[in-house]
Amino acid sequence: MTTHGVEQTRALAAAVAGLAEPGDLLVLVGDLGTGKTAFAQGFARGLHIDEPVTSPTFTLVRSYTGRLVLHHVDVYRLDRLQEALDLDLPQLIDDGGVTLIEWGDAVVPALPPEFLEVRLGYGEADDHRSVALRPVGHRWAARERRLRDVVAATRRGPC
Ligand SMILES: Nc1ncnc2c1ncn2[C@@H]1O[C@H](COP(=O)(O)OP(=O)(O)OP(=O)(O)O)[C@@H](O)[C@H]1O
Ligand SMILES: [Mg+2]
Repeated sequence: MTTHGVEQTRALAAAVAGLAEPGDLLVLVGDLGTGKTAFAQGFARGLHIDEPVTSPTFTLVRSYTGRLVLHHVDVYRLDRLQEALDLDLPQLIDDGGVTLIEWGDAVVPALPPEFLEVRLGYGEADDHRSVALRPVGHRWAARERRLRDVVAATRRGPC
């Protein structure tokens, strides 16, 4: 879909968070400034996390507690896949929280093969972004219909 403004990207993410289960992984993909952190902020809101979510660029991982624990990871600064392997992401992902990884496409070989890819892109206007949700593996494919409902509801909602 196309979101019209940062608030609509956050609203979509908050609705997706309503479908989240322990152990879920979301891989956020898209150029600089396309809204990966904005998506993480909305997702946190959807998990009833009150703390402000900022870019974890300098810390790599930040964790927040709401309905579920949210691990917000940004691997932009990792130079090599080996550094991602050293982070032991599979262990982080497996600890019962939900993990969101910005620039996650760079480290897919170091990740479990079940995740929701969230692909963000620029739109026709300054405040438009394309947002595509693509289940990889069974975990999210099983929720595909509910994901479609979430997108449809966000489209109809206030923006
Ligand atoms: N429809 C939209 N969805 C999301 N962000 C939008 C939208 N329209 C405008 N913006 C603006 O685009 C910027 C997105 O910044 P954000 O930090 O979320 O991007 P990012 O993908 O995380 O960037 P980086 O690659 O630096 O981590 C914000 O300033 C936000 O206000
Ligand atoms: Mg960011």
